[in-house]
Amino acid sequence: MKRTHTCGDLTVKNIGEKAILTGWVNKRRDHGKLIFVDVRDRYGMTQIVFFKMKAAEELRSEYVIAVKGVVQQRPKGTENPDIPTGEVELGVEELEILNPSLTPPFELDSANEISEEVRLKYRYIDLRRPLVQKKLILRHKIIKSMRDFLDKKDFIEVETPILTKSTPEGARDFLVPSRLNHGRFFALPQSPQLFKQLLMVSGLERYFQIAKCFRDEDLRADRQPEFTQLDMELSFTDEEEIFAIIEKLLFYVFKETIGLELKIPFPRMSYKEAMEKYNSDKPDIRENKAGFQFLWVTSFPLFRYNEEEKKWDMEHHPFTYPLVEDIDLIEKDPDKVRSRAYDLVVNGVEIASGSIRIHKRDLQEKIFKRIGLSMEEAKERFGFLLEAFEYGAPPHGGIALGLDRLIALMAGSDTIRDVIAFPKTQKAVCPLTEAPSPVDEKQLKELGIRIKKEEL
Ligand code: AMO
Repeated sequence: MKRTHTCGDLTVKNIGEKAILTGWVNKRRDHGKLIFVDVRDRYGMTQIVFFKMKAAEELRSEYVIAVKGVVQQRPKGTENPDIPTGEVELGVEELEILNPSLTPPFELDSANEISEEVRLKYRYIDLRRPLVQKKLILRHKIIKSMRDFLDKKDFIEVETPILTKSTPEGARDFLVPSRLNHGRFFALPQSPQLFKQLLMVSGLERYFQIAKCFRDEDLRADRQPEFTQLDMELSFTDEEEIFAIIEKLLFYVFKETIGLELKIPFPRMSYKEAMEKYNSDKPDIRENKAGFQFLWVTSFPLFRYNEEEKKWDMEHHPFTYPLVEDIDLIEKDPDKVRSRAYDLVVNGVEIASGSIRIHKRDLQEKIFKRIGLSMEEAKERFGFLLEAFEYGAPPHGGIALGLDRLIALMAGSDTIRDVIAFPKTQKAVCPLTEAPSPVDEKQLKELGIRIKKEEL
């Protein structure tokens, strides 16, 4: 049986028509000779009714079925005004069980009361819930509208490597051992930062990527070890252009996907003012805690003193351009040097971060020196970038938006795990696949790795 309609299609307009539906048994209710089943697919739910049909007694939650029948009006008083198909039902003439199901570990309707660990272990069932599917569909629409907007603005999407070298974004790296080069490791990218700058040297001028980033850091509701950025970089640009593009992009995305017209341009506040007024570099400036309040925070300090190691670190990453008038202070007054870095904050959450970059080798080397990177270390880690700067690097700058955070806010979710199809738990494990997991001795041997037993 091939379906003629989805479970969200049938209404009073179809009364008297023959229809074939396919989907999952959501609930079965027995009333003697009559058996009612709510059948569900991605598009909705339709009530189907069996009259004296023995086979229907076999049906259980989450069985996959196909049914053929006639669309009929539900008797007065039994309509369900909450769903579009609520005035009709399908009087079933033929039933095919496409696949039975074990008793699911939780009923979809009561999944909210189930621990997240169990929901994530059976995420493929959890994802059948209409509310959860809605969030993934919203995610799809948001990303699609971003791609549409950026394409119209002449941006080119380029994929950058996942097996790469460490990128400094302030977290620990996830390392991947190399089989062919024992003792050497790839690092998964904390962001495409270095590659997007190289793409500017390559003359691409306007780059973007829906980029996977990997950071081994302590997890919170708004942090995952693997997350997605809308990553962007532009040549011959400045803060004004970048702010305007992001504002128009978000205006377009909010309007297209949730029908909300944001007020643009967004207000701006310097880091100094934010700290003085709110004691936070991501202040929530909403007056009535309603509708979304975006805010640009600008002029961050370039350096931050690391008390533990008694040295200066970067406030953002080391490729950030200092304010021109502060360059002379780098040596003697590092705490006074402001940067051309900016964050976009919404309702007190840091949603995006970016800067105008250094594009000249001498200034880049000066910054490395200030944060205690020896020339050898700098060359070892970023030599390729420093070299590239000497082959005609244009002035450039960019920004990266935390997509999971933005989507969670738009979906009204408290955690980004809700808007990621297969997230990790707070302990950075995947209960579904049980990753991370031990590997074969043989694999370790090939990689030249031995695990110290006492550390297991
Ligand atoms: P940054 O490190 O600030 O900048 O990251 C940009 C945005 O990514 C989001 N984000 C995260 N989301 C979920 N889980 C995480 N662990 C996580 N870490 C960061 C945040 C953040 O604002 N290369 C620079 C950008 C640039 O300069 O262009 C970068 O990655 O929303």
